[in-house]
Amino acid sequence: MQTLIIKDITEPALKRAGEIIRGGGIVAFPTETVYGLGASALSEEAVRKIYVAKGRPSDNPLIVHLADAGDVDKVAREVPCAAKKLLEKFAPGPMTLILKKQPHIPDVVTAGLDTVGVRIPSDETAREFIRLSGVPVAAPSANLSGKPSPTRAEHVIHDMTGRVDAIICGGSSEVGVESTIIDMTGDVPTVLRPGGITPEDIAAVCGECRIDEHVLKAVSVAEQPKCPGMKYKHYAPEADVTVVEGSGARGRLCELVRESRDSGRRVGVLTYEKGDFGADLELTADGANTELASVLFDALRSFDREKIEVVFVEFKNDDGVGLAVKNRLYKAAGNKVIFVED
Ligand code: TXA
Ligand code: MG
Repeated sequence: MQTLIIKDITEPALKRAGEIIRGGGIVAFPTETVYGLGASALSEEAVRKIYVAKGRPSDNPLIVHLADAGDVDKVAREVPCAAKKLLEKFAPGPMTLILKKQPHIPDVVTAGLDTVGVRIPSDETAREFIRLSGVPVAAPSANLSGKPSPTRAEHVIHDMTGRVDAIICGGSSEVGVESTIIDMTGDVPTVLRPGGITPEDIAAVCGECRIDEHVLKAVSVAEQPKCPGMKYKHYAPEADVTVVEGSGARGRLCELVRESRDSGRRVGVLTYEKGDFGADLELTADGANTELASVLFDALRSFDREKIEVVFVEFKNDDGVGLAVKNRLYKAAGNKVIFVED
């Protein structure tokens, strides 16, 4: 398949991308969280192409993207009061609400569930593209299934060239981790996947907020988590990743790096601040969780590119977007975590 690479984001170029969507094609586009791979949410045939392009299991539902919060009732049949409040406060932004779906949303979008994930991205290019498409846009992250989500156009070009009709190349995704998914179908808003909007943010608006038990623990094969994506090994780089936490983490890193190098393997580290750990590739996140979130997926891809075999990532705390970073890191590490206290 010929892939149209759109580097100049002009009105005619976005119109062309919108036409591709209306014609049943698939288009990758930038958002503030990660890049998405979109198709018309009203076309079963178009949505099927997404699953094929990504190699995604068909029991994992897609999020429906809208240009305006005013359109939510076109895809959801019930919008509870708490959901309206969250939309007022955080839309457009890095938030997905799980709501009861309208009957005309095809089963292939929701993997047969009676609910639909709805998100209004804040990225201007994303919203203009959706607006010009003239339909709700179903979109997962634009990576090959199992690979780290793409936060730069080059990641999408790497994974999707030849597999999709067009790629809209924007800048780096600002947040860097996928949207906060909040189940709004129960009594209390429940975070199914943490992201840029934190449980504290949600509780401040709704009075209460729960965190689903699967956010940090591994899901066993027999379990059916509320968010089907939770059961897949996600964000998996080729390297063997270990998370190192606690006040003694930095000190221990040097030893861990040395042990792995002594066994002849190529080692990488990702830490909050620059240090000299003796690794083959050392990446830093400039001190804060927001920065760690925005560089995380790019770092995991860099380790792959440099053929790094063992990676140690320093993690400090759940502050702000920290819970989301921890959730992605634990998955990338297959829940391999070392705690070191001084
Ligand atoms: O930030 C994001 O959310 C990005 C950008 C492109 O918007 N999208 C994204 O999509 O991360 P994806 O497909 O990679 O992850 C969507 C997650 C999956 O884990 C899926 O199981 C869950 O959302 N999901 C979708 N619809 C759902 C539903 N009705 N109920 C529960 N979970 C749902
Ligand atoms: Mg994804």
